[in-house]
Amino acid sequence: MPNNEQLYAELQRVIDEHGQEPGALMPVLQGAQEIFGCVPIDVQKYIAEKLHTTLSEVYGVATFYSQFSLQPKGEYLISVCLGTACYVKGSQKVLDKLSEVLNVPVGGTTPDGRFTLQATRCLGACGLAPVMTINEEVYGRLTPDDIPGIIAKYQTA
Ligand code: FES
Repeated sequence: MPNNEQLYAELQRVIDEHGQEPGALMPVLQGAQEIFGCVPIDVQKYIAEKLHTTLSEVYGVATFYSQFSLQPKGEYLISVCLGTACYVKGSQKVLDKLSEVLNVPVGGTTPDGRFTLQATRCLGACGLAPVMTINEEVYGRLTPDDIPGIIAKYQTA
């Protein structure tokens, strides 16, 4: 794992490359996302300072585009579909159960960095509603009672 200093040095290279261009913020944020895996507040502050702009400007852009995440993602990304087909089949209850079992809010990551819980739009597997994915794995026809067993598999993995 490269240390923080190396990551910031890499970010600085991206800033040196794009810093003079109009609209430099987008490529710099993209670079930061690639380098750090997310754009946390300290990185936003650094970018704001180096691009001579404000933190609120950087924050505004970073939160507007869903390609940027502001927090590190967990090892396992759990996405619960809240699209119509899944929602009518109770995906909200599945999501609530996950939040309870993992003890994280939707959008949050467990303190051990293992799981990130998020809600998502239609995953294109409506026939299996309600659906969630854990990284590449798809789970369908879920009930809240299935959740503890599924999570346990990943906790011991
Ligand atoms: S609505 Fe959930 S997969 Fe389509």
